[in-house]
Amino acid sequence: MKVLEINGNQELSGTIRISGAKNASVALIPAAILSDKETTICNVPEITDTDALCEILNLLNADVKRASESIVIDPTNIKNIEINESCSKKLRASYYFMGALLGKYKKAEMCFPGGCSIGKRPINLHLKGFEALGATVTNKGNKYIVEADELSGANIYLDFASVGATINIMLAATRAKGTTIIDNAAKEPEIVNIATFLNSMGAKISGAGTSTIKIEGVDYLHGCFHEVIPDRIEAGTYMIIGALCGNKLKIDNIIPTHVEALTSKLQEAGVEVEIGADYVTVSKPKEYLPVNIKTMPYPGFPTDLQQPFTVLLTQCDGKSKVEETIYENRFMHIAYLNDLGADITVKNQTATVFGPTSLVGTKVVATDLRAGAAMVVAGLLAKGTTTITNIEHILRGYEQIVEKLISVGAKIENKEI
Ligand code: EPZ
Repeated sequence: MKVLEINGNQELSGTIRISGAKNASVALIPAAILSDKETTICNVPEITDTDALCEILNLLNADVKRASESIVIDPTNIKNIEINESCSKKLRASYYFMGALLGKYKKAEMCFPGGCSIGKRPINLHLKGFEALGATVTNKGNKYIVEADELSGANIYLDFASVGATINIMLAATRAKGTTIIDNAAKEPEIVNIATFLNSMGAKISGAGTSTIKIEGVDYLHGCFHEVIPDRIEAGTYMIIGALCGNKLKIDNIIPTHVEALTSKLQEAGVEVEIGADYVTVSKPKEYLPVNIKTMPYPGFPTDLQQPFTVLLTQCDGKSKVEETIYENRFMHIAYLNDLGADITVKNQTATVFGPTSLVGTKVVATDLRAGAAMVVAGLLAKGTTTITNIEHILRGYEQIVEKLISVGAKIENKEI
């Protein structure tokens, strides 16, 4: 069994370079098949989620060339076959093939996507959007067939500003006839990055990054070269690590406005954050003040940083609260933080953290990707040895996490036990 072993309580300093955003890359790779020509995407993180999407491209007979952080995708010879369960369940983002295949070939056949078990995570808003564009959806057990003779632009109001539904509808509408308006669209930076990619291929999308996105359908998309934006969640995770263990830890190659919600909560807790043009520098303060967070769609505090941030709250002098509003089941890390010495109670969707408590290393489990990130943060802070199992969740989303942490002074290693 592969584990991560951390000997914590070390001071970390130096520079960590942030990789391309997972949650942009996982939509850009499927989006590439909408093109009629070859596209190149660079700054793609080498993580198992991007590997799994390349496997699906191979299954569909696309030509994929990968050289470190660049992927060249030629969709010319795609065979639009069913994406089976063993491929779809490897990650959530396999569902972006639904929108992309539907848009390009007017038919997508695939099994329900996988991803972290952090809530029910239905795809009803995606399917409702496809239906509004004129598709019919047939559901047989775990399999979905979405097809249309023709896709026509429509006005679509999302009941919730879902990231996945916004992107999937945008993908399908890019090659529909006429104009689609998505209202109450999600505003995450990743959505802007996908729209930029599609526009570079010749799509006509405006308003990405606001709650109203307009897509004028086109019937041809050419090739292009595109760069993935920096990963704001990876950046945020290392900022929290800097706030707990850092001595001027520099988080480099980021877009500081993308992490503003976190920066402001760190500052409220008494952490000094120096903000540069494309970096931030974070140091551990003498003491931490208690703060409350409530997860919200962008630009609110990201649910994906709630779990790592909870570790910081264990060091605050007093009572802090964490309200999780996006997912019903994103508190699986709490039991393990308590095993490490934290004092946290959970009632409904709110965790109350009593601090400060000193953490002492023990055996813990990465129950999902960001819970795993929280265990790494806690292990770096805790005295003694922390051993994390189920690390495949962590490797889905953090490129070279061990190497990056070692380079700034952490004692962390991959071990086989
Ligand atoms: C994306 O998930 C990210 N995943 C998640 O990151 C992130 O937590 C989430 O956006 C919110 O920021 C990817 O980009 C691959 P949503 P997504 O649709 O698109 C409900 C990580 O750790 N909903 O905005 O699946 C849903 O159940 C991951 O990197 C419906 O009810 O998120 C959830 O409660 C985890 N019906 C809420 O909306 C739908 O049809 C937000 O989901 C769709 C969503």
